[in-house]
Amino acid sequence: MSPPEVRTFDDPAALARAAAEDFVGLASDAAANRGRFTVALAGGSTPRLMYSLLAGPPWRDRVPWDQIEVFWGDERAVPPDHAESNYRMAATALLERVPVPPRCVHRIHGEASDLAAAAREYQAEIARVLGVPADGPPPAFDLVLLGMGADGHTASLFPGTTGLEERRRWVVSHRVPSLHTDRVTLTLPVLNRARDVRIFVTGQDKGPRLRQALAAPRGETLPVQRVAPDGGRLVWLVDRAAAGVPATASRS
Ligand code: 6PG
Repeated sequence: MSPPEVRTFDDPAALARAAAEDFVGLASDAAANRGRFTVALAGGSTPRLMYSLLAGPPWRDRVPWDQIEVFWGDERAVPPDHAESNYRMAATALLERVPVPPRCVHRIHGEASDLAAAAREYQAEIARVLGVPADGPPPAFDLVLLGMGADGHTASLFPGTTGLEERRRWVVSHRVPSLHTDRVTLTLPVLNRARDVRIFVTGQDKGPRLRQALAAPRGETLPVQRVAPDGGRLVWLVDRAAAGVPATASRS
């Protein structure tokens, strides 16, 4: 496998600007070539700045908002107005500030008392919108945005969780012992079908796992190492703090 494509930035702000530009390009290409752009957003805090940049100039007016279908890569077991909600983070940073049609915003129902049912319903929603049978192979999102935790998790695929081994379902709910909570998450079969995947990693605390992930892309020790799109393009966007690159040096 060719070495992963890694773009290193001076700081999170530079990364967010580049990520916003990348998003505009991918969205425009998909809308022009396929009539729409299907994206699964990342949760956590890292993408927040990029989402907020997309809601303003010069990026806002270059995105075909009326041709976008918005999904999430994972969700916490909380209602949509909860401070921990991945939906809420993206809604407040971006979706409430741009003209994406509400019918095109497809959130995971983390508030459900039965998260396994919520996962099944989300798979059915993905199938309906992307126009494929819900019991067949996973469809290809145009873009999947991901982060990485300091333990090497991505989406809500944490080390040792059952969803990490899922080979058939596209969406599952599972217990995350390290957090003492449940999560709903996309699984590797659907993540690895995406046309484009971007993984954002910033901060010194993620350095050891990032270097481990990049040193052995197929190491498959860490969940994030198992993100390897079949035919799609994976690009890591990292800052110098996470990459351990001294302030005086820089890489492409
Ligand atoms: C979540 C995300 C998760 C996140 C990483 C990094 O629900 O938290 O899906 O995978 O991307 O934990 O989180 P930060 O961006 O907050 O460091």
